[in-house]
Formats: sequence, C-alpha cells, structure tokens
Amino acid sequence: MSNQNAPYEVQVEAGQEYWYCACGKSKNQPWCDGSHEGTGVQPMSFTAKETGTVWLCGCRMSDNLPFCDGTHNSL
Ligand code: FES
Repeated sequence: MSNQNAPYEVQVEAGQEYWYCACGKSKNQPWCDGSHEGTGVQPMSFTAKETGTVWLCGCRMSDNLPFCDGTHNSL
C-alpha cells in the first residue's frame, strides 16, 4: 500500500473538503481517483482548517492519517 517514503506536500484551502487516497493505488497521488474499487479500502476525507501547506502521508503507516507523522523515517 506504500507509495513513497516521504510525505506529499500539498496546498489546501480552508473549509474545502479533500479525499485522500488510503489504498495507495491512485494515479493522482495523494488524491483518490477511484482506483480503490475492489480493494475494500475507502478514501479518507478531511476538511482543511486553514489555507496553506499540509503534508499528507506517503507511506500509509502514519498513526495520524491522512497526515504525515514522521513514521516514514523509521521504515
Ligand atoms: S484511489 Fe486510493 S482510496 Fe481511492
């Protein structure tokens, strides 16, 4: 399920809802593109609290999904 051993740095807008790819199969990382169909995994939605940069988990092992918590550093 891992895609990369580093977070995805993305820009988000306050109040906007986003769909994070939790299955790792999307061709449009880190966003869900529907590729999870048949995997039993669903995307994770979150609403941005602030406009700015966030780091979304690339290794899918974070304890704080969809956000990076630094776990990739110990893989
Ligand atoms: S494509 Fe991965 S969760 Fe939708």
